[in-house]
Amino acid sequence: MDVENVLNMNAGEGETSYANNSIHQRQAITKVRAIMEDAVKNAVSMTTFPTCIQVADLGCSSGPNTFLVISEIVDTVHGIYQQTNNKSPELQVFLNDLPGNDFNTVFKSLPAFYKKLKEEKGDFGPCFVSGLAGSFYGRLFPSQSLHFVHSSNSLHWLSQVPNGLSNNKANVFIAKSSPPSVFKAYKEQFRRDFSKFLRSRAVEIMPGGHMLLTFLGRSALDPTTNDCCKMAELLSKSLLDLVAQGIVKEGDVDSFNLPLYRPFKGEVREIIDNEGSFNIEKLETFEVDWDNSDTSEDDQYCVSGQNVAKWIRAGTEPMLATHFGAGTAMDSLFARFAQHVAEHLCIEKTADFYIVLSMTKK
Ligand SMILES: C[S@@+](CC[C@H](N)C(=O)[O-])C[C@H]1O[C@@H](n2cnc3c(N)ncnc32)[C@H](O)[C@@H]1O
Repeated sequence: MDVENVLNMNAGEGETSYANNSIHQRQAITKVRAIMEDAVKNAVSMTTFPTCIQVADLGCSSGPNTFLVISEIVDTVHGIYQQTNNKSPELQVFLNDLPGNDFNTVFKSLPAFYKKLKEEKGDFGPCFVSGLAGSFYGRLFPSQSLHFVHSSNSLHWLSQVPNGLSNNKANVFIAKSSPPSVFKAYKEQFRRDFSKFLRSRAVEIMPGGHMLLTFLGRSALDPTTNDCCKMAELLSKSLLDLVAQGIVKEGDVDSFNLPLYRPFKGEVREIIDNEGSFNIEKLETFEVDWDNSDTSEDDQYCVSGQNVAKWIRAGTEPMLATHFGAGTAMDSLFARFAQHVAEHLCIEKTADFYIVLSMTKK
């Protein structure tokens, strides 16, 4: 799988778009608001209140979430410059994602964003927002050019499907039935990717600059806990239903594996310590329920199943459609998936487990 070319969220602003189905991810951004505020304050004060602050949101996708992040950064910067009687700085914001990302939808939202900023913050800035296409597993910016780097809901995506997964048949990720070599291959790919990410940012962030990263992880060392592999297990099950119906080929399920990893907190700390360029200020975890819609009716689990299927579809459809076929295959897949999620949630409430990391460049 050519991950850089197929790992996109659903484009546009339609019913199945990421822009319209990213409330789940938005909750993760909201939960780390206080940590982000501290990180931004530290970044500007430790780099002695620059007159132009350079920030980046890595893995911005399209839709309102990246604008929520920029607004929170603007609020914090505005507040701290006012409190310390410093002249309002200029802000340069780089929105980064892979080249196939729907940057057009992002750019179309810019006039409304600038207008709101002017209404709310008056003469703040100006704020210059631009798009930057490329993989965050390599260099994206000039040396020592950034004060603050943010990334949410993105770093669990790997740069490639790990090699050596040919014996992970009928599973699209680590599963209880996967041989140990599968877990080892995923863990090693994450170690390589996350190390590359840190090495690149270590060059680009100036000393005293900060980085706030929020991404999916798992609650235990054991990679087969529900918060790590249940979602993918339900996706595998749904694909096998489609094999039974003759919509999808068995061999296509056997050869598909998600380019995704949910690390344990200790693994993340070890990789950062080994790379050596960053001090960890905070390394915390939190949970976001798969669905927390408040339906008290009999069909509660059906509604939850459909809700979860919508945000999973928005985040995986381009990649799945490239491998299994678009149209009917995707409609059938996510209808089955919604049912399996509903049945699972009926037995057990399940949450995504998140890791949030705040770090300073040494
Ligand atoms: C789930 S979206 C998160 C969007 C937004 N940050 C949020 O929190 O809602 C993940 C994004 O990460 C991007 N991404 C994944 N791997 C990437 C890479 N190597 N370089 C840049 N972006 C990447 C994907 O294309 C996708 O748009």
